[in-house]
Amino acid sequence: MPIFQIAPSILAADFGYLAQAVRDAEAAGADAIHVDVMDGHFVPEISFGRRMTEMLRDATPLPLDVHLMVANPERHLEPFVTAGAATLTIHAESAAPNALPKLLQTIRAAGARPGIALKPAIPADVLADLYPLVDHVLVMTVEPGYSGQPFMPEMLPKLRAIRATASPGVTLAVDGGIDPTTIRSCADAGATFFVAGSSVYSPRRSVAAGIDALRLALG
Ligand code: DX5
Ligand code: ZN
Repeated sequence: MPIFQIAPSILAADFGYLAQAVRDAEAAGADAIHVDVMDGHFVPEISFGRRMTEMLRDATPLPLDVHLMVANPERHLEPFVTAGAATLTIHAESAAPNALPKLLQTIRAAGARPGIALKPAIPADVLADLYPLVDHVLVMTVEPGYSGQPFMPEMLPKLRAIRATASPGVTLAVDGGIDPTTIRSCADAGATFFVAGSSVYSPRRSVAAGIDALRLALG
């Protein structure tokens, strides 16, 4: 049985109580905190940036899994690692293909685990030359930009293709619409790292109940 990791996405939490939101996740046994950085350009919304990442780092000992949804990611790599990113993930389409290796090397040299995210339209093939350079592959199971969107089951073949190709040391993560009804299908397709926003931070149940329900569904 692989080790499954759950990373609550604080994009779905109450921004007035973010420190409490990460402490709740920590107390409930979360493995990491997923931090969605959006610039209003690569995706329509603006979320938060480096200062917020620093504050989250100071609020929890959990590793920060920073998901950069920004144009010109090269400007932001070292600053976000310095701010506390343990894993720093960039989108494959946020830079020219021939620029990606250098960006991934920069993340590693700065001291974080390099990650690549694929939005739904981007095929697994773009990873072909990048596998030796990445520790983390994030398959988006919604269009990037918002919490609370429905899961796209048509991404499952992409997960299977990546799991079959990547070395076992690469973490295969899913992000978008992960809840107790969808998480198992992702695990069956090879995912071991599950980002969950609205199924963990919900007015309907506690953070602990949300995480427990995900773990129960994983079996
Ligand atoms: C969307 C973000 C996600 C989002 C997930 O662009 O990358 O991390 O917070 O939220 P849910 O789990 O509600 O789909
Ligand atoms: Zn995300």
